[in-house]
Amino acid sequence: MNRLLRTAALSALATLAFQPSSSPAQVPTSQRMWSHFLAAAEVQTAVIRGDLEATKEAAAWLAEYDEPGLPDGAEAFLRELQRAAARVVEATTIEAAGAATGRIAAACGSCHREYYSEMEPTGLVEPTPGGKGDLAAHMARHAWAADRLWDGLVLPSNAAWEAGADAFAGVPLDTDDLAFDNPEGVRALANRTHELGRRAGLETEPSLRARTYGELLSACAACHQMTGQKPAIKKLDW
Ligand code: HEC
Ligand code: HEC
Repeated sequence: MNRLLRTAALSALATLAFQPSSSPAQVPTSQRMWSHFLAAAEVQTAVIRGDLEATKEAAAWLAEYDEPGLPDGAEAFLRELQRAAARVVEATTIEAAGAATGRIAAACGSCHREYYSEMEPTGLVEPTPGGKGDLAAHMARHAWAADRLWDGLVLPSNAAWEAGADAFAGVPLDTDDLAFDNPEGVRALANRTHELGRRAGLETEPSLRARTYGELLSACAACHQMTGQKPAIKKLDW
């Protein structure tokens, strides 16, 4: 796998043309990793949509997936990943699924920190925030920032984490001009997203970062449920 692919953003919301092999025993780790990546990304995007059911299939795959031929000692990290994925499978609320998704990303990152630190973040250039009340631009920025936090945990990368946290902590959504059935609730969730971004920027410990990331995903989900949105996110082929 060449350097270009290696530095590809691990963005869950990015469109990827990969067709990972379904026979893990015969393909090298680097190729199988892409299936890992895509399945985990699908869990993340399903949580963001607020669609608990849609997390289950990919999470179940991750919970059972075994990786033969890992370096000595790496197995413990794979078990941690499987446990986190199993928590998504068992989750009965989107908050629980969000929290477990944070643990998935942290498990990926722990193993990479020990055994594979060659991955670098890309896509660190922020999209423009958009004008007052420009919801689509604001959401594009949220999606970008959530992907940076994800990369921050998975690669892992401080630069990516900080870029994502900064974007969330920046200008909160101006909800005044938006017609929602529950303006107070929507405003509270917009403020919570901002607040969680601020907290994310202060955290350095991977487990705390994972928790905050999970809470952020739950805030996306709660607002999408409250406003009746199911953001169209491409179904990934893992
Ligand atoms: C048990 C250890 C371990 C866990 C857990 C793990 N990885 Fe990896 N990952 C590796 C190793 C080792 C490599 C380097 C593989 C190689 O180049 O042969 C790698 C490489 C990668 C690559 C780059 C592949 C390439 O083209 O070089 C991606 C993408 C990736 N991992 C994503 C993930 C994601 C997403 C998760 C969590 C869902 C995850 N990994 C969990 C050990 C792990
Ligand atoms: C305050 C409420 C609220 C929060 C919080 C929120 N969203 Fe949204 N989101 C919306 C609404 C409303 C829409 C529909 C926007 C539109 O009509 O274009 C939307 C749409 C989207 C879309 C689809 C955009 C498009 O152009 O199709 C994406 C992607 C998205 N949100 C991602 C996120 C992510 C990621 C988070 C959390 C980090 C998040 N959102 C948090 C309310 C919210």
